[in-house]
Amino acid sequence: MGLRYNNRKWKESMRLRLDYNNMMAEFVGTKEGFTKKQIRENQSIIDTAYNLVQLRRGRTMMGWTELPYNQEEVVADVIATAKEVRKNCDYFVVLGIGGSALGPMAVFQALCHIHHNELPKSKRRAPKFYVEDNVDPERMQALLDVIVPERTIFNVVTKSGATSETMAQYLIIMNMLKEKLGDEAAQHVIATTSETKGNLIKIAKEEGLKTFFIPDGVGGRFSELCPVGLLPAAVLGIDIREMLAGAAYMDKICRNEKVFKNPALLLATFQYLAMKKGKNISVMMPYADGLKLIADWYCQLWAESLGKANDNAGFKVHCGQTPVKALGVTDQHSQVQLYTEGPFDKVTTFLAVDEYRTTFEISNGCENIPDVSFLGGHTMNELIQAERTATEYAMTVAKRLNHTIYLPQINPFTIGQLLFLFEMQTAYAGEMLKINTYDQPGVEGGKQATYALLGKRGFDEKREELANAPKKKVENMII
Ligand code: PA5
Repeated sequence: MGLRYNNRKWKESMRLRLDYNNMMAEFVGTKEGFTKKQIRENQSIIDTAYNLVQLRRGRTMMGWTELPYNQEEVVADVIATAKEVRKNCDYFVVLGIGGSALGPMAVFQALCHIHHNELPKSKRRAPKFYVEDNVDPERMQALLDVIVPERTIFNVVTKSGATSETMAQYLIIMNMLKEKLGDEAAQHVIATTSETKGNLIKIAKEEGLKTFFIPDGVGGRFSELCPVGLLPAAVLGIDIREMLAGAAYMDKICRNEKVFKNPALLLATFQYLAMKKGKNISVMMPYADGLKLIADWYCQLWAESLGKANDNAGFKVHCGQTPVKALGVTDQHSQVQLYTEGPFDKVTTFLAVDEYRTTFEISNGCENIPDVSFLGGHTMNELIQAERTATEYAMTVAKRLNHTIYLPQINPFTIGQLLFLFEMQTAYAGEMLKINTYDQPGVEGGKQATYALLGKRGFDEKREELANAPKKKVENMII
């Protein structure tokens, strides 16, 4: 049987579509919206960003652009390892945080049964799946309460091998495994890390752990399409080759130099121009529970990549857009009031799905109450689409910038496209803002203070700085 992602017609039928009508002045008015002329007036900024991304792709921290093409051997190893894991274990636990956790969670939510862990094994056909991305002691205890160590594989994921949260989890889990399983402990841990740098690779070698590598040019938040995301996905039975094919397909589309033909470049341009107009909030609102955690993943990608104090020339810019996740229709009853009537400071991205994986009919009933009975005979599919269309319409009438990305279905091919689209959009936006998209100096301060508070060697100065920090005043507290 031919693979569907090798079939041109099928791929075209699964191509993501972007509707940007409601970003245009024609629909939301000239004060809020944009004209094609305005976009053309920024052509040199767009061209520069486009050219820099093409020039840098595959190099330094843009190694992620090549992941759809250069991993055949890695993919084969991932699939072989996943097969063994699926055969021999009932629980698969990712230990990681930030870019080492959000991608695996997002893809799991999108491509597995929404209640995967609750399904009987015969229907699940993959281990139960957990991602531990915090150091809340109650959560660690809760995990240990539900797993069976002998039947569990832990995938510890950290590129730097220095992340305190992940390494703390590793220490706890390895200790527990050694106590319970003795010499067999190492067979229950797979490390995903840098091949050359950091502590985890050293530990992995000492302990004899199975290891996958995160390429040097792939930063945490751009790492879902390398073993960070591929191994958990393959363990869950997701077709990772199809996901990579989707990414490659979108990559081709996003290489088009014409801004109105290139969704990533166009979205980056809209967001860039919107930021210039003071629209400092980017709302990501999928109309599908399966895509809920894609919004979380996007929030990290957009926030950590674009939220920067300095530009490349060293000038203070304090740029970025605050990403907000919302779920359609759930958050229509929570946030949409603000989006429609509050400050004009947001751009909303709706994610729409043409064809949900199931159709659910709404039963007839309550015939003597027309306000309820009108729902009967429709499907939930019609209801969710109507609510999305209606919310989009109401926001547009209220002159709120919004656009919609349509997924024909939710499958590995469309999810691969969506991830790559947002990564490319981020890369283009970073070049327009003239910042380093790939670093995160702003999180260092907190990390170093944590090291000092916990007595890490080499942080005496920081410890002293903290000891001399202004003392909190009791009169500023309500106790
Ligand atoms: O995007 C990033 O680089 C970060 O968010 C990292 O993913 C996060 O800090 C975890 O880092 P590491 O993989 O080194 O543990």
